[in-house]
Amino acid sequence: MSGRNSTLTAGSSLDATATPSSGRLQWSTRLSFILAATGSAIGLGNIWKFPYITGENGGGAFVLVYLACILVIGIPLMMAEIMIGRRGQQSPPNAMASLAKEAGSTSLWKIVGWSGVIAGFLILSFYTVIAGWSVSYISVAADTTFVGKSPAEIGSMFEGMLSDPTRLLTWSTLVILITLFIVGKGVKSGLEKAVNILMPCLLVLIVIMVGYAMTTGHFMQGVSFLFNPDFSKLSSESMLIALGHAFFTLSLASGAIMTYGSYLPKSVSIAKTTIYIGIVDTVVALLAGLAIFPIVFANNLEPSAGPGLIFVTLPIAFGQMPLGTIVGTLFFIMLSIAALTSAISMIEPSVARLVEKFKISRFKACTLLGFGLWLLSVGSALSFNLWKEEKLFGKTFFDMVDHLTANLMMPLGGLAMAIFSAWIIHKKVTQEELGLGKGVMYNVWLFTMRFITPICIVIVFLNALKII
Ligand code: PHE
Repeated sequence: MSGRNSTLTAGSSLDATATPSSGRLQWSTRLSFILAATGSAIGLGNIWKFPYITGENGGGAFVLVYLACILVIGIPLMMAEIMIGRRGQQSPPNAMASLAKEAGSTSLWKIVGWSGVIAGFLILSFYTVIAGWSVSYISVAADTTFVGKSPAEIGSMFEGMLSDPTRLLTWSTLVILITLFIVGKGVKSGLEKAVNILMPCLLVLIVIMVGYAMTTGHFMQGVSFLFNPDFSKLSSESMLIALGHAFFTLSLASGAIMTYGSYLPKSVSIAKTTIYIGIVDTVVALLAGLAIFPIVFANNLEPSAGPGLIFVTLPIAFGQMPLGTIVGTLFFIMLSIAALTSAISMIEPSVARLVEKFKISRFKACTLLGFGLWLLSVGSALSFNLWKEEKLFGKTFFDMVDHLTANLMMPLGGLAMAIFSAWIIHKKVTQEELGLGKGVMYNVWLFTMRFITPICIVIVFLNALKII
């Protein structure tokens, strides 16, 4: 219980005074959950990762597989994860164990919870490095540095940043410190409320960028790249990346959504909330794609430029458009905050677990985790410069952590969670919790989770391993 209490005092507006019978508090807690979960879901995954992996994996067909994965795997699984969190009322490993116990199954299911906690921690180690790029670009944009620069100059500006380990480490260390400070001190409620204003602002800025993309004369080329599927470009590896990204972007199988789910009051419909988050998250990613690819084509850049894609394309636009300096500065501020609200949700499960287990303060837990996190983040920061050529299986440290989490731990964790929630937990429990009723909608969920989700994950895996 101590873990749960400690997470509650972390500052979500779900506090000790919230009573199920109080309408107003219920509303505020529901909003608080939606904001926290949306803040977790929307982040670098939508704006940085989605466009660059789409570019690397050939566009349309990849996007289609990604959308299918969101629909048939991501959304039903998110419902399951929130449900497990809310019913379990503890950190992910214990929540899994307690639901398993309730269903008369083995407590070994807690391994799945552990895998999530560890995945969240590992992701954070490289996420802070990329968030550092975004923070560092706030001042670069504000200094009118992009104005009047050619695409090549903007490209080498980005390369210059990547090749400077001190600069990367300074910014990623700052991001780690801010994240741990917020989580350790438990001042999240202000941040969650800020999300309420900042997320719509970020959306407006992305729409402005889509507007700019329309003026490049290459908008339709961008649309066609994103939505015209060419299946000859879709490899089995690409399908696995699309699947992994569906997990990544919705913060699934990483402990984040399950932990946040444990704050959710009983009266809230898990189904409705999940659908809302799924739609908003997908719209943001697609808009980011629509903003970026026309700029790529208009400037003869490579869609497959890799992780630097948005840090080169968008600054080109900021350098050319009216009020570009203000739009660019605001954009990187919003992107950094979006990254921060995701980062917080990645470390929250580890903090909750440490506090629960060792009965230490949140601050102490954050300090301990901070050291490990920082060490791992050094590996990712150096992957772009000093350790660029140090590869294992053809992958840098950064690539390896990304691959291990998004393409292995998350899909496998998701597979286990689908089996757990649809085959192990009693139907009565899922019917009671999900808010889908007992009719058609519930049966669609159950059928999807029992058969479609696991079969799809297994097929994508076997295919990527070249077994089928
Ligand atoms: N969903 C976040 C994003 O899209 C990343 C994330 C992954 C957050 C896992 C929490 C847990 O940026």
